[in-house]
Amino acid sequence: MIEILSRSWQETEHLGTTVGKLLKGISPVTLALSGELASGKTSFVKGLVKEICGEWWVHSPTFTIVNVYGTPPKVIHIDCYRISSYRELVSIGAEELIGSECICVIEWADKVKELLPADHISIHFEHIDETSRRILISDPTDIIEQPLRNRDI
Ligand SMILES: Nc1ncnc2c1ncn2[C@@H]1O[C@H](COP(=O)(O)OP(=O)(O)O)[C@@H](O)[C@H]1O
Ligand SMILES: [Mg+2]
Repeated sequence: MIEILSRSWQETEHLGTTVGKLLKGISPVTLALSGELASGKTSFVKGLVKEICGEWWVHSPTFTIVNVYGTPPKVIHIDCYRISSYRELVSIGAEELIGSECICVIEWADKVKELLPADHISIHFEHIDETSRRILISDPTDIIEQPLRNRDI
């Protein structure tokens, strides 16, 4: 586990970009994001998607549940905020997306633990104050944790 302190939304977005660089060309990967509303999950995804797909228009798919970036899909962004159980996510076909040949990044992933592959990377966001967030990363694969340990974001 690695703990990172972000002092602005730009730093959180930049962390997403750094993680995007580390994950480029690697798939399948599942990133399980957790943390309360406005803790920075979507800010992180913005940086990730910009880096991997060059797309700038990124927002939480709160109502559509799933957004797909790149053709063929390079990043699949799932937001479980309005999902009440993993079965609901299964019913919209998300099971096939998680673990497919791309980077799957899931907000509110703690609601759908049953669907996460065993080797998923967990990223937890904690609100410290108006502009600071604590970000905890657990990466059993060590693809991102090890390099992040050795660099300044
Ligand atoms: N260090 C920080 N990291 C991320 N967001 C921050 C930070 N400081 C302030 N913010 C603000 O908090 C909000 C985070 O929103 P968002 O990334 O959509 O969170 P979530 O997806 O977790 O609901 C934004 O309004 C952003 O400007
Ligand atoms: Mg969000």
